[in-house]
Amino acid sequence: MSETSTPQLPEGSDDPGTALAPQGAHDPSLPPHRPRRTDTDPRAAKRVERQVAAMFLGSALMTVLFVIAFVKIPVDAETTIPFTTATINASNAALGLTFGLAILLIGTGAIHWAKKLMPDQEVIQLRHPLRSTDEDRAAAVEALQEGGEASGLGERKIIRRSLLLAMGLFPIPMIVMLRDLGPLPGNSLRETLWHKGSRIVIDPTRSPIKPGDVPIGGIVSAMPADLPEVQEVEGDLNERAKSVIILVRMSPEDIISQQGGTPAEPWDYQGVMAFSKICTHVGCPINLYEQRTHHMLCPCHQSTFDLADSANVVFGPAARRLPQLPITVDAEGFLIARDGFAEPVGPSFWERG
Ligand code: FES
Repeated sequence: MSETSTPQLPEGSDDPGTALAPQGAHDPSLPPHRPRRTDTDPRAAKRVERQVAAMFLGSALMTVLFVIAFVKIPVDAETTIPFTTATINASNAALGLTFGLAILLIGTGAIHWAKKLMPDQEVIQLRHPLRSTDEDRAAAVEALQEGGEASGLGERKIIRRSLLLAMGLFPIPMIVMLRDLGPLPGNSLRETLWHKGSRIVIDPTRSPIKPGDVPIGGIVSAMPADLPEVQEVEGDLNERAKSVIILVRMSPEDIISQQGGTPAEPWDYQGVMAFSKICTHVGCPINLYEQRTHHMLCPCHQSTFDLADSANVVFGPAARRLPQLPITVDAEGFLIARDGFAEPVGPSFWERG
């Protein structure tokens, strides 16, 4: 139950906030009411009335034109009209324009009417406790008891017990169906195809890549060279999802920290670093890189990772950094993995427990 009423203002006050505030406190949330021009000037109100009517009439006219265009303009590829550098189908253009304007004019007319002519006096909606009355509650309990007795559940034990059994087992199919969500997490999520000596190739061209091919300030998507064969043999698309990486190149002096390595065996190769491309939040592929800050942004929920500082999270819901892949070059100068990932890639939910 609720009712709407205008506030009772204290004598000499025109501030409705005063009526709402507890004694001794001032509620600043309700500003004093200011009449609009259409409230005080009948000629202004009449003018707005004509404007609103003109919009509604314009909408009606557009609807009529829509019907005429639908009937009269042939729907064929030859009936076109020029539009900037191309041509568009005349029927589509006429129908879209007239129908769009018909809707727009009804909407703008209604808004104009509401803002300028309808009452804009502040009102207060009083709320009452949501609790039912004691009588209603007692009646509800009585109705339940009557229903229970009428069903005979208390006396018919076999029905009661079999119903409890059925209801108890009922949620089990939903739990069983969880299995369809994918393979059970195990080592499959902890291991990727990357291992010591895996050659890094560009995704999707599969060309091997040298450090100089990674542009300074740019990123390159890459994958292990043996991924296509593994997919072909095992038909396993999960491997691709887990193994994709991004290569980034920056000045070695810009690198603040890395996730591992020693001065003799660093995890980067002359400023080229490799990170998992899978966001550690819920697994979107990450690909928005800001060269100036070395920040990598996930487009899904804006988690941001600082690639110059161990890919730590600097913003957003991701709970952990992007895993780094240690890299080096082989005898031919192509980039290879120095080892596999030291920590699991992808969302971290399965790490719990
Ligand atoms: S998946 Fe990347 S922020 Fe959510």
